[in-house]
Amino acid sequence: MINQPYTTLSNGIQMPLLGLGVYDMYNKEAEQAVVDALEIGYRLIDTAALYQNEKEIGKAVKASGLPRNEIFVTTKVGNGDQGYDSTLKAFDVSLRKLDMDYVDLYLVHWPIKGKRKDTWKALEKLYADKTVRAIGVANYLIPFLDELSMYAATVPVLNQVELTPWLFQPELVGYCKQRNIQLQSYSPITRGKKLGDPRLLKLCEKYNKTPAQIVLRWNIEHNISTIPKSSRKERLQENFDSLSFELSEEDVAFMDGFNENFRICDDPMEML
Ligand SMILES: NC(=O)c1ccc[n+]([C@@H]2O[C@H](COP(=O)([O-])OP(=O)(O)OC[C@H]3O[C@@H](n4cnc5c(N)ncnc54)[C@H](OP(=O)(O)O)[C@@H]3O)[C@@H](O)[C@H]2O)c1
Repeated sequence: MINQPYTTLSNGIQMPLLGLGVYDMYNKEAEQAVVDALEIGYRLIDTAALYQNEKEIGKAVKASGLPRNEIFVTTKVGNGDQGYDSTLKAFDVSLRKLDMDYVDLYLVHWPIKGKRKDTWKALEKLYADKTVRAIGVANYLIPFLDELSMYAATVPVLNQVELTPWLFQPELVGYCKQRNIQLQSYSPITRGKKLGDPRLLKLCEKYNKTPAQIVLRWNIEHNISTIPKSSRKERLQENFDSLSFELSEEDVAFMDGFNENFRICDDPMEML
């Protein structure tokens, strides 16, 4: 099995750099994907209340037979549940569905206007109560992180954002690095939309790797955690195998230059 890379978050806990995202998979399909992923070697699962599969994720973690403390589970508070009391309630619901005693990482899913401050305060309470091992945010571009720093007693350990070679954001990367906020990229393989980029295909030839593997490896070279989604076993393996080779510094820099502000999901700036 591949000796996979971990990162140490700012509160001292360890998290695998590569994980499985489970958006858009349900019921048996979600459960099986997580069972397969854990068998392959994945130890980080990224879900959310919004994905409606926390129950299946919990079942798969149990079915794996692995000790709970060997698996890093992230979930997120849904947009409609933001606010102080409602976030605390939503967390209880997530925990019950996951059928776990704690969550490794709890995230604010989107920076909802008028709600995000109270939501963060609720996450700080959950962290103080030790029902979450770490707290963080998602979709927080620099203005949101600046705002958060004005009132946060606890700094987010992680920021999960859309980030790919086609949406490279060096300022955000530098900002998070400076403040010891681990970046994690979502939709890392652009849901397949950019995998035919001729520049990427050239690198595939050079390294004898698939487009998804080159793009995932680009994240790892940048020390950016990443959470590709697949519910097909062969692709779970393919994506995991991005851990078994290296890209040269020149090729990483070359890929940084693919940027064209291409987004899959909504631009968080619309929520400022
Ligand atoms: N915080 C947020 O707001 C936010 C937003 C979006 C996503 N996320 C998280 O990030 C995770 C990943 O993002 P995503 O699901 O949007 O997109 P993604 O991981 O970039 O792409 C997933 C799509 O690519 C296909 N795929 C997987 N591996 C492949 C491969 N090796 N070659 C070709 N195609 C492949 C999958 O199909 P198959 O399943 O058929 O293989 C699926 O259709 C989500 O699952 C979720 O956990 C978070």
